Amino acid sequence: MKLTSIPIASTLLSLLAASGTLASPLHKRDDPLNNKQFGLMSIHSGNSYVHLHPFYVGDSGAIYLDPTDGTSTSAVFSMSNGRLVVGNLYASVDSNGTTIFKSDANAASTKFSAGDATNVGYNLLYNGTQSAVACPASDNDQVYQVYFGAGNGNPNCAGIAIEAFVSPSSSSSSSSSAATSTSTRVSSSAKASTSSGAIAYTTKCVVVPVTASATATAKAASAAASSAVYPLFPHGIRLIDSANPSSNSGNVYSPVVFQKQNNHTNTIFTFDVPQVSGSCELNLHLDTSGFPITVEGSNGVGQFILFNLSSVANDSTVYSNRPNRIAEIGRFNCSSSGCDYATNVTCPNSYTAVSYEMMALTDDSYLSFFEEADPLEGLTLRV
Ligand SMILES: *[C@@H]1O[C@H](CO)[C@@H](O)[C@H](O)[C@H]1NC(C)=O
Ligand SMILES: *[C@@H]1O[C@H](CO)[C@@H](O)[C@H](O)[C@H]1NC(C)=O
Ligand SMILES: *[C@@H]1O[C@H](CO)[C@@H](O)[C@H](O)[C@H]1NC(C)=O
Ligand SMILES: *[C@@H]1O[C@H](CO)[C@@H](O)[C@H](O)[C@H]1NC(C)=O
Ligand SMILES: *[C@@H]1O[C@H](CO)[C@@H](O)[C@H](O)[C@H]1NC(C)=O
Ligand SMILES: *[C@@H]1O[C@H](CO)[C@@H](O)[C@H](O)[C@H]1NC(C)=O
Ligand SMILES: *[C@@H]1O[C@H](CO)[C@@H](O)[C@H](O)[C@H]1NC(C)=O
Repeated sequence: MKLTSIPIASTLLSLLAASGTLASPLHKRDDPLNNKQFGLMSIHSGNSYVHLHPFYVGDSGAIYLDPTDGTSTSAVFSMSNGRLVVGNLYASVDSNGTTIFKSDANAASTKFSAGDATNVGYNLLYNGTQSAVACPASDNDQVYQVYFGAGNGNPNCAGIAIEAFVSPSSSSSSSSSAATSTSTRVSSSAKASTSSGAIAYTTKCVVVPVTASATATAKAASAAASSAVYPLFPHGIRLIDSANPSSNSGNVYSPVVFQKQNNHTNTIFTFDVPQVSGSCELNLHLDTSGFPITVEGSNGVGQFILFNLSSVANDSTVYSNRPNRIAEIGRFNCSSSGCDYATNVTCPNSYTAVSYEMMALTDDSYLSFFEEADPLEGLTLRV
């Protein structure tokens, strides 16, 4: 695959290359997370108790997605020969997936590894897959506990993807790592609603506070003006590539869309939809205040098109078996300073998943970005 004329192609190449080895965990000694410090964050759109929450390790050694169990700051992790480490404690995973950090290195699981590379780090895998589950804690159903396995049987358990945020300068010896501040920055815990500058997107009883920034404030204002909806982040972001019609990117966090003559790399965004009421809107916001975006096109303007799809993408979805397009649902232009686009869409049914495809409309149009909550960047669905 030759894409040398496209500057960010190396990112794409690494994403696509990773797919070849998706089924087998990386060799531990070569794990890119070795000797790095990183924060961990859960990703599962549609569940505000879970989505974009950093990991906390409580006094009991259990992992939670909000401060609880004697701890108030998100944990800084490292990786050693497949072991997930916090301070001098090692993650031990029992047969049900219950995960407790213990000082006993011999009890440690050695099955952790880095998955696909993302703009900020890597997916975290356990036993070679994204097998983590977040479940309401037994004593507080608003705080979720993380399991690497079946979970605790609560019907509200949710499968999560885990993003490891690696500080560019991180090493095991640095004490105050950027990984910590990164996870703090994206924190959207229920308790944040009491902190100054917090903004709530309110719908029925669901509150998703997002720490204020100029962009987020502007977005919140416009969100509040419409029929009060909160942004759902895509739970699945999958790249399909017409030049490699049977290769699979896996689930990534960096959407990439481009056209090079007849070759297309498109991104399929999949949202898990909670209860739907009223109108539904697909919203794209990109500016330069988040992780770097790359946009190219004629005179610097890329032209893009969105479709709704007849079925939901999954890890087996590739270009050649991609879901059928039902209809164009919108077009937008974007430049390197960003873009804003919103379109009303047919509401998906409550408690289902829905996929949308983004494609470049003109030759040499190129777009890549990173989905994030604060500042709010990327494609979101409001239901
Ligand atoms: C796993 O869960 C089952 C059912 O809840 C329980 O009986 C069993 O003791 C658990 N096993 C471990 C190792 O915790
Ligand atoms: C790890 O995955 C393999 C196959 O993918 C499975 O057979 C095994 O039970 C898993 N082990 C754990 C501890 O989850
Ligand atoms: C399009 O993809 C084909 C197949 O991989 C490749 O041979 C060709 O060079 C690509 N064209 C461009 C313009 O990238
Ligand atoms: C996964 O997606 C592929 C292609 O989009 C489809 O053929 C397949 O039926 C899907 N699998 C499930 C379990 O939905
Ligand atoms: C995008 O820009 C092109 C070229 O300026 C213009 O013709 C087109 O109408 C624009 N499309 C949208 C959706 O604004
Ligand atoms: C979506 O529909 C609502 C209600 O009809 C309307 O107020 C809003 O402006 C529409 N949004 C867009 C982007 O067209
Ligand atoms: C797809 O989009 C078209 C055009 O907006 C709309 O008529 C149709 O209902 C949509 N279908 C689904 C399943 O979203």
